[in-house]
Amino acid sequence: MTQKPVFILAIESSCDDTAAAVLKDDKVLSNVVANQLIHNEFGGVVPELASRAHQQNIVPVIDAALKKANVKKEELSAIAFTQGPGLMGSLLVGSSFAKSLSLALNIPLIAVNHMHAHILAHFINEEGFDKPTFPFLALTISGGHTQIVKVNGFFDMEIIGETTDDAVGEAFDKSAKILGLPYPGGPLVDKKAQLGNPKAFAFTKPKVPGLDFSFSGLKTAILYFIQKKVAENPDFIAQNINDICASIQHTIIEILMDKLKLAVKETGIKQIAIGGGVSANSGIRTTLKEAEKKYGWKTFVPKFEYTTDNAAMIGIVGYQKFLAETFEDATVVSKARIQF
Ligand code: KG4
Ligand code: ZN
Repeated sequence: MTQKPVFILAIESSCDDTAAAVLKDDKVLSNVVANQLIHNEFGGVVPELASRAHQQNIVPVIDAALKKANVKKEELSAIAFTQGPGLMGSLLVGSSFAKSLSLALNIPLIAVNHMHAHILAHFINEEGFDKPTFPFLALTISGGHTQIVKVNGFFDMEIIGETTDDAVGEAFDKSAKILGLPYPGGPLVDKKAQLGNPKAFAFTKPKVPGLDFSFSGLKTAILYFIQKKVAENPDFIAQNINDICASIQHTIIEILMDKLKLAVKETGIKQIAIGGGVSANSGIRTTLKEAEKKYGWKTFVPKFEYTTDNAAMIGIVGYQKFLAETFEDATVVSKARIQF
């Protein structure tokens, strides 16, 4: 007997991207993201503007996701939404919409942890992409998080290392700001780094015990380095931008790789998956693939569209929760911070 397919509508609104996706079982039929460019002129996400933009975007984005998937709302099996972590005003737009729609259609409501979703995005059924097997290690690197997670099962995860200050995305964005690059600087640093020499300048790596990270010292080191060089030569940044970006990126990658090597040593687990916005970084993607040959690891790098915030990753967790029948009622609340 063939099982009836499961259609999940997933909604992601934790930060500054309004996103909706439709999944048929573990396959993505549509994955729509509306970026909020309004924040760029302020050099960072402005929470009040983010929630207002989510309100403007959410109906057209969901409409587009359903149309693109060619799925009618009456065919949906469940609605999944991001419960947290994130900006409260942004989360509330997604959760209120999800609640209303699940009530109107009389179908289950599923709450998803955004960080679980960055990890479980690897279970989306995509041609050319293998799925990890349990247990594996996940390195989640985004604008708000830097964690090494031991993933024992879909809903059995344990944080074994995390940042004690800035997230790695912040390290990219703040370094970019020091160099006068616009927000969000991560992708720009990546682009320029590809044209530069990663060994041109050396920055000291932080000494943090165990599997935890720290990035605030690196940011300060970069700031002092740039101030000193610019005092000697006002054109220093313009003349060396590619080399500076390559050196910063190289240092960040070394910090991440040092901790991953230690995590593999401590756990004996050699399957490594990366997730989160910073996993879009070309240097990280290449270094991780090289680690397969170098260290005998099996590494999992997500499809580009599932790295930065998206709703397909919320949908795949929704699908697993649907199978496990983990549903919420309308009293479920959004959480800016959420227990892992
Ligand atoms: O996961 P994400 O979209 O949102 C959060 O949950 O934070 O991550 C956004 C972060 C930003 O800091 C952005 O600069 C960084 O990911 N990012 C990158 C790249 N693409 C996005 N950092 C370095 N290289 C990239 N190519
Ligand atoms: Zn994210």
